[in-house]
Order: sequence, then structure tokens, then C-alpha cells
Amino acid sequence: MIPTVARITGTGRGLPSRIFTNDDFASIGIETSDEWIMERTGIHERRIGSETETTCWMAAAAARGAMAKAGVTAGEIDTIILSTATPDRLLPATAVDLQAELGATRAAAFDVSAACSGWLYAITIAEGMIASGAIDTALVVGAEKMSAIIDWTDRSTCVLFGDGAGAVIVQRNKAGEKAGILSTFMRSDGCLANLLYRPDGGAAHPMTKEIVENRTHLVKMAGREVFKHAVREMSEAADRALDSAKLRSADIDLLIPHQANTRIIEATAKHASIPMSKVYVNVDRFGNTSSASIPIALDEVIEKKIVGPGSTVMMVAFGAGFTWASAIIRL
Ligand code: COA
Repeated sequence: MIPTVARITGTGRGLPSRIFTNDDFASIGIETSDEWIMERTGIHERRIGSETETTCWMAAAAARGAMAKAGVTAGEIDTIILSTATPDRLLPATAVDLQAELGATRAAAFDVSAACSGWLYAITIAEGMIASGAIDTALVVGAEKMSAIIDWTDRSTCVLFGDGAGAVIVQRNKAGEKAGILSTFMRSDGCLANLLYRPDGGAAHPMTKEIVENRTHLVKMAGREVFKHAVREMSEAADRALDSAKLRSADIDLLIPHQANTRIIEATAKHASIPMSKVYVNVDRFGNTSSASIPIALDEVIEKKIVGPGSTVMMVAFGAGFTWASAIIRL
């Protein structure tokens, strides 16, 4: 058995209260249907944050849940790593707003920007910091207010995304502990950046009236191309996670794929030879919440007792960048 240095000791999620169903798009003048969206994506509804349900607000709700389950107080957190593509402000990082909100007075805090793979990148960083001896306890959050950056007039993208946050506490293992992070894998390909991106509004092209009028500060996506890459790269990430953990598909009790689309999820599971009965899907209720999707799902499966102590869980993600990543944990 591979020795581990760190394990997840608590999980939590924070979701806005408003449910926006596929049928609700008619009320904002979007020509679509529940049938079209369900058939192509498996999404039936998503949460949409109010003005006060910010990225930090959702992150704090998720963090408090994870801290309560881990029995960790704010003062015991050494580092807060917050993955987001939708920071509340461009400066400073949303992680420091979260640090202040929680009163985590001993914690370093920084954001990770790796789109939908970001939370897996973030737990990899947390594990590395624990392995180096720098820290003992990390709060690792994926929090996204996708509704703030999607183009609500573009039916090919606005139906796909939702808001939410998930969080975990990652802690140093005690000697002989069986639970832990068994393997991680991260990869990227920036040559494909323009297939899923926000063209303008950053430092290269700061916001202007023209940018706002042309809506080029919002998410643009070449859906079909993204789909092909998502299937290919998620499959590679699954293979790499199994290889480095020295495990076979049959050893996996549950696969939690990034929740973008049921067709991508099914293709990834098929490639990894994992039956759909061992794959968790909640994209129907939350849509694509980017880097929040895996930690939200992880909290749900533990709460529902679909997995528990001793279970082996594989997580695989793909997102803008492109970035892709995976991890296998034993609970
Ligand atoms: N409702 C109804 N019709 C829609 C629609 C909607 N919400 N969105 C697009 N359409 C129409 C298009 O206008 C097009 O019509 P046309 O043929 O008359 O021009 C038609 O549907 C087909 O569009 P296309 O974009 O080719 O559809 P698709 O079968 O590729 O499905 C996605 C679109 C976005 C669902 C699919 O490409 C996808 O899931 N891609 C991956 C996206 C993703 O998961 N991204 C995040 C990765 S982390």
C-alpha cells in the first residue's frame, strides 16, 4: 500500500437558494427547451446566486461545513487555497476575503486559477505543502459564481453553468493511517485556450464600454471542440491516476467526474471501465459549477453514505485552459 502524507478530514458545500430550471429560460427570452438541454447535457436545473450570495459567501458556507465535520477551528487552519474562475474582485484574492470572513488569523490565503480542474490542482498543492513540512492543515475550496461571467443572451453557453461551492479540510496523516490522498495528476495545454475563454476585460484588454457592448468579457466556447477534448483528456487523467496509485478500475468504489455533461461523464467512465452504477452524477441538479463541482459531489456522497471510511474514490476533471487533473483518495 502506498504511504500517504495527507487526508481529507471534513467536507462541506455552500449553495445559493434559488433554483433556476430549464423551463425558466423562457422567462428571460432564451429560446430553448428542457428536452434539448436534457438530451445534450443531462442538466435539468442549476442554482443561481443572489447579489449577496457571492463567491466568498458560498465558499464560507462550504468551509464552515468542512471545518465542523473535521472538528477544525478557524485558528487551526494554516493555509486557505481557493480555486475559482469567478473571484469576487480582481484584487485581492477571494481567499483573503474568506480568511477574514472565517477569522482564520494564522492562515496564508491565495487563489488558484485553473478553471474546472482548479480544485484538484488545489488539493495537489495542499498535499505538497503538507509533504514539505510547511503546513499541517489546509482549507481547500472550489467556489464559483458562473452566473456572473456567462452571456445570458447566448443559449449555447448560458444553459450549461451554475453557482456553488464545495470545501474540504486536508490534514497531515498520523503514522500508519490508511486513509489519504493516493495519487494526483495535473496537466495543461494553453495552445487550446481560445476554445473556452473570456477574450477581454483582463490586463491585456482592460474593460471599455465597447467590450461591454460586444459582450467579449463573457465566456465564449466552441462547444463541439471542447466536448472532444474533455472526453480525451478526462480519459487520460483517469488512466494516470490509476497508474500512479497502482490500482485497477475494479479497485475504485466511486468515480466522481467533473460535472459538465452526462455524455462526457459516461464516455469517461466507459474508458476507465467503471460501470455507471459506480459513478456519481449530480449535474442534473447543479449544472456545471466549474471547480466547485467535485467538492460539492464529494460532500454529497459522504453525507448520503454512498462512500465511507475505507472507500477508494477517483476524481477526474477537465476545464478551460485547457487544464485537466485527477486524484484518487481513500476515505
Ligand atoms: N437550446 C436549443 N438549441 C440550441 C441551444 C439551446 N440551449 N444551444 C444551441 N442550440 C442550437 C444551435 O443554435 C444549433 O442550431 P443550428 O444547427 O440551427 O445552427 C444546434 O443547436 C446545434 O448546436 P451545436 O453547438 O452544434 O450543438 P451540440 O450538439 O454540439 O451541443 C453543447 C452543444 C454545448 C451542449 C455540446 O457541444 C457540449 O456539451 N459541449 C461541451 C461543453 C462543456 O461541457 N463545456 C465545459 C467543459 S468544462
